[in-house]
Amino acid sequence: MSEDLLIIENISKSFTVDKNKELKALKNINIRLKKGECIGIVGESGCGKSTLARIIVGIEKKTSGKIIFDDKEIDGISKTKDIQMIFQSPLSSFNPRMKIIDYMWEPLRNYFKLSKKESIPLITKSLVDVGLDETALEKYPHEFSGGQLQRITIARAIIIKPKLIVCDEITSALDVSVQKQILELLKKLQKDLALSYLFIGHDLAVVQNISQKIVVMYMGEIVEELDSIDLKTKAKHPYTNLLLNSVFEVNKV
Ligand SMILES: Nc1ncnc2c1ncn2[C@@H]1O[C@H](COP(=O)(O)OP(=O)(O)OP(=O)(O)O)[C@@H](O)[C@H]1O
Ligand SMILES: [Mg+2]
Repeated sequence: MSEDLLIIENISKSFTVDKNKELKALKNINIRLKKGECIGIVGESGCGKSTLARIIVGIEKKTSGKIIFDDKEIDGISKTKDIQMIFQSPLSSFNPRMKIIDYMWEPLRNYFKLSKKESIPLITKSLVDVGLDETALEKYPHEFSGGQLQRITIARAIIIKPKLIVCDEITSALDVSVQKQILELLKKLQKDLALSYLFIGHDLAVVQNISQKIVVMYMGEIVEELDSIDLKTKAKHPYTNLLLNSVFEVNKV
């Protein structure tokens, strides 16, 4: 068994825009994610981060390249319970008319054919794992804060015991103090459940906090790959330095 959980080999993606113009959103992307590791992906808006995430979880089709997950090639639009995705805006992940119990039950019903009654202990445990409790079960999404909702989306992602969670800007819409709590929660779950993450963000400080490695993307390409601790001392690409300087500027204010 290999120590790599996810191998992304030469992934490219083109979109056809304006009738017949081709937009190369991803160009020969290569990433290796080890079991239990978190790799952070940073880069400016439009550089292709979400497109890559969507290809990995199987909601977008790649143009070329290969994805190997858990020693098996995964292809096209295929969804596995072992790869889950969490999105930026927690509210958009919910149906406003669906109680939390039903939102949490959905993946258990789909993947394990469990009845609602059978699911309740698992749902409760998963909610406790993210710092909530069973009082959430009968409530609706609007009764929670953004941070609490993001905890619930995490609870739903972990309830089916995935191996990889792809996080796309999941703390961007939250207050700084809530961001910190979510990062701590993810780090705890990473250890307790032997999870791996791809953690996409534009805030270098946030991404560095949780990631062991950092991949910097620029216009559809990976321009730099560094161990997280070497970010400040070994970054070579001008765009990485620009990102580092903007963190510095914000901290100065
Ligand atoms: N379905 C689509 N059809 C056409 N073009 C698309 C489509 N999805 C993404 N793109 C284009 O591909 C490029 C990459 O988009 P993507 O959403 O991956 O960027 P991103 O790095 O996630 O940006 P952000 O930080 O703003 O979320 C952009 O130029 C975008 O306009
Ligand atoms: Mg995006």
